[in-house]
Amino acid sequence: MKVSKRIISYQISGESILIINTLTGAVDIINPQVYQLLRGDFLPENPQIDPEIITTLIKRGYLITNEDREEQVLGHITEAYAKTQKRLTFVLCPTYSCNLKCTYCFEGELTYDHSFMEKKDIDFVFAAIDELRRTHANRKHTITLFGGEPLLPKTKPLISKILDEASKRSLPIHIVTNGTHLGRFTKELNINKSLIKSCQVTLDGPKSIHDSRRKSTTGKGTFDLTCLAVDRLLDLQIKTTIRINADLQNIDSIPTLFEFARLKGWIDNPLINFMISPVLDHSCKKSYAYFVPEDELVGRLLQVTKENPYLEKFLELGVFKTIGHISAVIRGGRPFQPLLYYCEANNLEQIVFGPDGYIYPCTECMGNREFALGEFKPYLKLYDEIIKMWNERTILSMEKCRECDIALLCGGGCAYSALMVNGDINQPVCNRARETIFAYLGSIKDELLLKANA
Ligand SMILES: C[S@@+](CC[C@H](N)C(=O)[O-])C[C@H]1O[C@@H](n2cnc3c(N)ncnc32)[C@H](O)[C@@H]1O
Ligand code: SF4
Ligand code: SF4
Repeated sequence: MKVSKRIISYQISGESILIINTLTGAVDIINPQVYQLLRGDFLPENPQIDPEIITTLIKRGYLITNEDREEQVLGHITEAYAKTQKRLTFVLCPTYSCNLKCTYCFEGELTYDHSFMEKKDIDFVFAAIDELRRTHANRKHTITLFGGEPLLPKTKPLISKILDEASKRSLPIHIVTNGTHLGRFTKELNINKSLIKSCQVTLDGPKSIHDSRRKSTTGKGTFDLTCLAVDRLLDLQIKTTIRINADLQNIDSIPTLFEFARLKGWIDNPLINFMISPVLDHSCKKSYAYFVPEDELVGRLLQVTKENPYLEKFLELGVFKTIGHISAVIRGGRPFQPLLYYCEANNLEQIVFGPDGYIYPCTECMGNREFALGEFKPYLKLYDEIIKMWNERTILSMEKCRECDIALLCGGGCAYSALMVNGDINQPVCNRARETIFAYLGSIKDELLLKANA
């Protein structure tokens, strides 16, 4: 009998230890005696250990009776992945250009690129989409409008054409926009509203905070225009996600934003959904002053929700991948699938079409031709070797992740980060994944103690 290498533990009190089996997803609270057993200090045959406990530890995967058991479970997980229906999202960027200059935008100088797709390019895009739909017929196909900023005066004819083409194919659409020119698209949105499944706008805090972060290129804040966009979307009965990109600058003002949202009648509106999301720095440039590492951000967000309990229902911890499963088990919710890979880019679940005629595996790679998966102008041409490189990146293909006890909670980290920081997609950047898990457990220690004493 062996102790699994995929257990992590957290001391709740002198009498209770939380253990997590990252392979089976089991989460349990045990006493120090059982913990000693798992550390290998006692033999399971020791008469002090209740045989029923041993049986439970075996059942939940903490003790292994068969050397190959963990490999078998990994095999089952891989098979389950292969069987689940996958998505294929076509992310369309009519331009990389943007009318805003948000302080933290990961697109940075790419938004100064003023090239736009031409109407003819939309035909090339849809010819490529048709081919990809044929070759990936068993996927769930959707379109996301993205940019730069997709809804600009200059993109209007392009957006109309995209909506027409999507409509001919009954392809559902999601829109990610800063909302500042949304009013000019009312007619197009209205005609196609059955196709438009959601629209996401970003509102980063109360007016003074939002305006200092999300300014137009002329320096004017965009809070009022963004709020107007939300109201317009609601008038059109379009499902709206209000995204709040959280960092050191705005975290403490989140309750004030929600107070504003309550006064606007947005909180209880079934068409509105809030998403608190971390400001990310996957290229690890560290050039943004208010950036907070994920472990610290999780702690700060949970502190804010402790002080303002009504916010809890808006804080979807699933956006922090490493703690998604643990928080679902501890606080209730749908447990996450173990993560064989980090995100949709590692399974060709997303294809980004740029105005430069190239296609990319993720929006962070846009404009960087070194990372392109192929071209779509004048016809689809795929770079099979690059696609293979992205597709084959799983926790099982990377030596460092294969041996890592938290691999199935982490998924091997962001592939783009690995390329940017280490120049090798298979040399992962851990991005404080372990620290984030323990920061989370530290933040909910009181809850864990209550559970331990129950
Ligand atoms: C890059 S923008 C492009 C679409 C559109 N211009 C907009 O702002 O929604 C897409 C999304 O990325 C978010 N975003 C930009 N920079 C980010 C960063 N560093 N970390 C996390 N999200 C970011 C924006 O808030 C927006 O929701
Ligand atoms: S509006 Fe969107 S693309 Fe433009 S700078 Fe802001 S986050 Fe970036
Ligand atoms: S990226 Fe780092 S933390 Fe994540 S699975 Fe790989 S080695 Fe583990």
